[in-house]
Amino acid sequence: QAPFLFPCTYREFFFFFFFLLQQCGVLLSVFIYLFIHFIPIHADWVATLWRDTFEELLNDDNELDYGDQWTLNFNYSQTAAVTKEERKRGWKVYSHCAYATFQCGSCSKNWSSARVVVLFRYRLRGERGTVIMRPFGQACRRCQDNEFYLPGFAEKEVKHALLRLFSKVRKNCYNDEDDHDDNGSSTCSTKKYTKPHEASLCQACIMGICCQDED
Ligand SMILES: *[C@@H]1O[C@H](CO)[C@@H](O)[C@H](O)[C@H]1NC(C)=O
Ligand SMILES: *[C@@H]1O[C@H](CO)[C@@H](O)[C@H](O)[C@H]1NC(C)=O
Ligand SMILES: *[C@@H]1O[C@H](CO)[C@@H](O)[C@H](O)[C@H]1NC(C)=O
Ligand SMILES: [Zn+2]
Ligand SMILES: [Zn+2]
Repeated sequence: QAPFLFPCTYREFFFFFFFLLQQCGVLLSVFIYLFIHFIPIHADWVATLWRDTFEELLNDDNELDYGDQWTLNFNYSQTAAVTKEERKRGWKVYSHCAYATFQCGSCSKNWSSARVVVLFRYRLRGERGTVIMRPFGQACRRCQDNEFYLPGFAEKEVKHALLRLFSKVRKNCYNDEDDHDDNGSSTCSTKKYTKPHEASLCQACIMGICCQDED
């Protein structure tokens, strides 16, 4: 009845085999469950995350320790252009490239991009420092409806962007040497695989201010 080399019957063997398979399935399900529930997807634009991180870096970490009052505001229609008049009034621009996630409002599809532009205008006037920020959106590849959705950022990305901004502020508003966080340019901070960048779906590309190509 027993096969040549098997120490058990075929029936026992297959039972054991499927038992193992089932255990793998259970393990896999557990991993998938953990992945879905405990790895946060930041697909929504959250302005308060930027404000809170801004405050935290200034008040707790003293990133701009010169005794001036800095505030962060948002303007969702500003451009990178600085007129001569604005330059005279002290406005400067910093364009940052970050990694972020988007969610389509019509089909709910999520996607990530390592080329998400965050544009900052800033100036110091008297004892008041102002930063005005604009995140640039992307459109859904599937829907192609010219609707630009705003990016959702992980806290790490927010911190990185603001630290880069503060080093620009130290340099351009306080003539302080750019000593800390002097790592490269504003190029993408995170090396993650994302689908090829499509200019027609990117608001920053359309306005001609998207991230530079990296080699
Ligand atoms: C996209 O991400 C959000 C969380 O931000 C989640 O609620 C939603 O189910 C996701 N959509 C898809 C299609 O995975
Ligand atoms: C936002 O920026 C646009 C373009 O630079 C400007 O026309 C508009 O007045 C700004 N809005 C506010 C509320 O400052
Ligand atoms: C700058 O980059 C180097 C590696 O390229 C890293 O070791 C260092 O910690 C970075 N410094 C800062 C301040 O991010
Ligand atoms: Zn869509
Ligand atoms: Zn682009």
